[in-house]
Amino acid sequence: MQFFETDFIKYRNDELYIEDVPLKQLTEQHGTPFYVYSKNHFIKQYRDFENAFKGTKHKIFYAMKANFNLSVVDTFVKLGSGVDVNSEGELFRALKTNVHPHSIILTGVGKTKDEIRLGIEKDLLLIKAESIEEVELINKIAGEINKIARVAIRVNPDVDPKTHPYISTGLANSKFGVDTRTALSLYSRRNEFKNIQFTGLDMHIGSQITSLDPFIEAVKKLCEMYCQLKKDGLKLDHFDVGGGIGVKYRNETPFNIEEYAEKLIPCFTKIDCEIIFEPGRYLTANGGILVTEVIYNMSNGDKRFIIVDSAMNDLLRPTIYHAYHHIQPVKRISSRNKIIADVVGPICETGDYFAKDREIFETKTGELLAVMSSGAYGMVMSSNYNARRRAPEIMVNGDKVSVARTRETFEHMLWDEQI
Ligand code: LLP
Repeated sequence: MQFFETDFIKYRNDELYIEDVPLKQLTEQHGTPFYVYSKNHFIKQYRDFENAFKGTKHKIFYAMKANFNLSVVDTFVKLGSGVDVNSEGELFRALKTNVHPHSIILTGVGKTKDEIRLGIEKDLLLIKAESIEEVELINKIAGEINKIARVAIRVNPDVDPKTHPYISTGLANSKFGVDTRTALSLYSRRNEFKNIQFTGLDMHIGSQITSLDPFIEAVKKLCEMYCQLKKDGLKLDHFDVGGGIGVKYRNETPFNIEEYAEKLIPCFTKIDCEIIFEPGRYLTANGGILVTEVIYNMSNGDKRFIIVDSAMNDLLRPTIYHAYHHIQPVKRISSRNKIIADVVGPICETGDYFAKDREIFETKTGELLAVMSSGAYGMVMSSNYNARRRAPEIMVNGDKVSVARTRETFEHMLWDEQI
């Protein structure tokens, strides 16, 4: 069994630390379960990305759906990032960080009229359109309020990203984006759309992609389309590659960001516009840990269970994608036995688990476990199922600790209900 460590999450004298703070200390101060983030991990990931593309005209728009805590979004905004928002709620949060509207992209396959109107009124950098009807609606709404909306079409390049089917978006049978023929026809109707200025060409083929080939194939296809449009007299300002870069959860060997840049940059040589990236997971996943306490150790026949105080309402990924999250003790003890067990939560669902038939060190009641790689699509997908309070989120920067979100109270959970 291996221990999962990163530059900012490491054992020191057999105690697991995030930056310069032991998780044990955070537990004493805040109770369990809680999410904790390493600010310097976020910063490093962002800077590595920036450096990899420093010779190329580009801009990063952090996909805040991965982790929309204000302190997290603010960290990226302060580094110069734009933000990719997928709903009015995300837009509301993004604006709270004082990010300039020209650094916001409004994405989403089912934007409502209100969301589109708001996007135009706020003068966001661009609104992505994902269907013929949506382009027509954007044009109509912009006309009603006498504005010109900047629009990019999300094109579905029909490329298999070879990831979990639930997070594959670039295949012809997915609901995302329009096919290349429809996109060309929409761009060619540009004179008809009096209140739209087409400014870009967008793609996003999926998430947790660990091979470069699907990116290269899709980018090449759409760069050809960009050149075709240019020949037809439409000069676009940007090409948006989307997000999707895979990270290490277990023993995957994802490409690193330098390889990604090295392989993609040559594909862009024929196009002379800004390249946009929308990473979410790459920036945040391995900067977060969900810390939980063991409540019981039990067996049913040969089957062993470790019951912890966190549950699928806190971290849904194992339940819905069978996603692997490494689980390790906060206190490393070399003399422990290894066992095979399920790590499960207290919710009344068989699907409420973090690990199944996992080789894991034997645990004691009351000890702490770290569920690793929980910085992306963790807290944002949490719920109040079983009327459980949502966990707090703590940000660590060196030896400084700040509470980015407090633990929800039962009163919080009732604020909008009445009898
Ligand atoms: N841009 C668009 C248009 C997207 O739909 C997404 C993610 C991203 C960017 C960011 O992708 P990333 O770099 O994080 O892969 N809940 C799932 C992941 C869903 C991803 C949805 N779209 C999970 O837990 O794995």
